Parts: sequence; C-alpha cells; structure tokens
Amino acid sequence: MATPLLSFLFLTFLFFSAHSELCNPQDKKVLLQIKKALNNPYVLASWNPNTDCCDWYVVTCDSVTHRINSLTVFAGPVSGQIPAAVGDLPFLETLEFHKQPNLTGPIQPAIAKLKNLKFLRLSWTNLSGPVPSFLSKLKNLTFLDLSFNNLSGSIPPSLSLLPNLGALHLDRNKLTGSIPYSFGTFSNVPDLYLSHNQLSGTIPHSFANMNFTVIDLSRNKLEGDASVVFGSKKTTQIVDLSRNLFQFDLSKVVFPKSLTSLDLNHNKITGNIPVEFTSLNLQFLNVSYNRLCGQIPVGGKLQSFDYSSYFHNRCLCGAPLPSCK
Ligand SMILES: *[C@@H]1O[C@H](CO)[C@@H](O)[C@H](O)[C@H]1NC(C)=O
Ligand SMILES: *[C@@H]1O[C@H](CO)[C@@H](O)[C@H](O)[C@H]1NC(C)=O
Ligand SMILES: *[C@@H]1O[C@H](CO)[C@@H](O)[C@H](O)[C@H]1NC(C)=O
Ligand SMILES: *[C@@H]1O[C@H](CO)[C@@H](O)[C@H](O)[C@H]1NC(C)=O
Ligand SMILES: *[C@@H]1O[C@H](CO)[C@@H](O)[C@H](O)[C@H]1NC(C)=O
Ligand SMILES: *[C@@H]1O[C@H](CO)[C@@H](O)[C@H](O)[C@H]1NC(C)=O
Repeated sequence: MATPLLSFLFLTFLFFSAHSELCNPQDKKVLLQIKKALNNPYVLASWNPNTDCCDWYVVTCDSVTHRINSLTVFAGPVSGQIPAAVGDLPFLETLEFHKQPNLTGPIQPAIAKLKNLKFLRLSWTNLSGPVPSFLSKLKNLTFLDLSFNNLSGSIPPSLSLLPNLGALHLDRNKLTGSIPYSFGTFSNVPDLYLSHNQLSGTIPHSFANMNFTVIDLSRNKLEGDASVVFGSKKTTQIVDLSRNLFQFDLSKVVFPKSLTSLDLNHNKITGNIPVEFTSLNLQFLNVSYNRLCGQIPVGGKLQSFDYSSYFHNRCLCGAPLPSCK
C-alpha cells in the first residue's frame, strides 16, 4: 500500500517542481555555458540543470520577471577568462568577479551588450589589457570598479559620458598617460580613485569645475599645480594627492570648508601652511616630505596631529614639530 502512495507523491512532487520552476530557460542555458567555460568550479556546484536557476548560488532572479539580474562570483576561486556568455544575460544589473587571482585575460568585450548593468566590479583579479571604451555605452552604470588588476594603456576619455556614475575605481593597475580632460565634465560627479598607477602629466584645468566628494590620485607621476582640485565653493571632503611630483605654493590655494582629509605627502609643494587650516574640521592631515616652510599655525586640529604629519619639510616649525628659532 505504501509504495504506490509514495510513488504517487514523488511523481506529484516532480510534476510540480518541474512546473513551478521560475527560471527563464534561456538564462539557464547561458548560466550552464558559463559554468562549463569556467571548468565547473566548486563555487558553481549548486548550478544543477535539474533545479530552478533562481535558487542557484551567486545569482539572483528579478522578483517580477524572474530573469537573472545578478551574478557575483567572489566566494570561491575560479580560473580562466571571463566567459563571453555573460553578455547573453540581458537583464543583468550586477556583475561582479572579486578576489580571483586566477581570472586572467582582457575585460570581456561581450559585457558591452549588458545595457541594464548598474554595478560592475572586476577587482582583485588578474585581468590585463586596456580599460575598454565600450564601458561608456553602459549608461545605467552607477558603480564601476576595475581596481587591483593588471590593466594597462591610457584611461578612455569617454568614461566621463557615463551619466549616473557614483564611483569610479581604476586604482592599483598599470595605467599610463594623463588624466583625460573630459574627467572635468562628468554630469554626475563620481568619487574618483586613480591611485597606484603610472599616470603622468598635470591635472586638467577642467577639474576646476568638478566638485568631487572623494578624489584619490596618490602614487602616480602627476606633476604641476594641483590647486584646481580645491576651491572655496566646492564640497570636497577627502583628497589624497600623495606620492606624486606636484609642485605648487600651498599658501595660494583656497580650501573648501568641507575638507576632512588631506594627504599631500611626498610631493614638491612649497610655501607655508595657510592659517585657514585652523578653521577646517580636519580628521586627517599629512603634508610630510614636501618643501614647506614657516610656522605651523596654532589652532583648530593642527596641533592634534602627529609630528609625522609634518616632518621632512624644508623649514616647517612649531608644535607638534620643534619650535621655530
Ligand atoms: C591559481 O592557480 C594556481 C596554479 O594553477 C594554483 O596553484 C592556485 O591554487 C590557484 N589559486 C586559486 C585561488 O585558485
Ligand atoms: C596575479 O597573479 C600573480 C601571479 O600569477 C599573483 O602573484 C598575484 O597575486 C595575482 N594578482 C591578484 C590581484 O590576484
Ligand atoms: C537603463 O536605462 C534605460 C534608459 O537609458 C532605461 O530605459 C532602463 O530602464 C534602464 N534599466 C534599468 C535596469 O534601470
Ligand atoms: C601583467 O601584464 C603584463 C603585460 O601587460 C604581463 O607581462 C604580466 O605577466 C602580467 N602580470 C600578471 C601577474 O598577470
Ligand atoms: C558642489 O556640490 C554641492 C552639493 O552637491 C553644491 O551645493 C555646491 O554648490 C557645488 N559646488 C560647485 C563649485 O559646483
Ligand atoms: C605621513 O606620511 C609619511 C610618509 O608616507 C609617513 O611616514 C607618516 O607616518 C605619515 N603620518 C601620518 C600621521 O599619517
């Protein structure tokens, strides 16, 4: 008696599980191609063709359309190149490969097809080749992170055409050339991270119009005057220009009241520390290893910083450095 009943229940279960599958068959086919192209890594073990792909790990389905809208691979290791099939998930809004040292090759050109992409992070991988200019066609992007890779060549000026970008991370690569002039024309100003590259030349004059909240240009080979980054009308908060070849007179710069963190260490900056620094709400300051001179103004947060915030300058003096003669 029990056996036919169990069989009936089992068949009923199979029937309903097959028919209650939410996953789009085309998306499932593409995901299985991706799994195969990555040589069936353990992190994709849940991608079983007999189950609903909306239940698989590292992907999510849209709650209304049930189309795959996110693919985020950072939990377990994969190796090889980013499969071209990722371009065939047309509803993808989030694509992430993170901390994958064995992920190599170029930034997959098929990503250009993902017009709905909002969040693209390919970071801490070993991708090489250029930062492709096709990324500027992904108009819905709000977050673009290509940091910690082996990308080379120059920065495509067209990235400034991305209308909704909130953050742009191109730091920790091998990028060369200068900062594009167009980066002073973003319609929505992103937080900008270009540190740890081999960028050269000067900061474009167009930056006078750019109200970055966060700008990190540290550890490059940038030179000349960096005062265009600042300005009394801006609302900039965090500026890191350290370890470059900047050469300008700090006394002549007008700093925004909003500034909370300023790192200028290891440049060729001259002049003295402006008295207006005493009225800023600075949480962090480092002007060490420059060519500054004169007394550190007394007041505000300036005496609360460590002497190493000021040391190795030409003739800077006063607390927390030894007193002026
Ligand atoms: C990367 O590949 C190397 C050589 O094939 C292997 O020894 C290493 O375990 C891999 N690392 C990861 C995180 O998969
Ligand atoms: C890239 O690969 C090299 C050697 O294969 C490895 O030492 C390095 O950690 C990898 N980089 C990243 C960011 O994973
Ligand atoms: C992407 O942007 C287009 C217009 O540029 C819009 O029609 C579409 O709904 C956006 N997609 C998403 C997922 O927001
Ligand atoms: C980084 O790219 C260069 C070519 O641009 C290549 O010679 C080098 O092996 C790459 N390094 C790693 C760790 O992949
Ligand atoms: C900077 O942005 C803030 C707020 O977004 C705005 O109030 C301010 O006028 C802007 N300044 C400039 C110079 O664009
Ligand atoms: C300032 O920068 C110098 C040079 O990198 C470093 O040695 C020092 O520890 C830093 N001090 C602070 C307070 O950040």
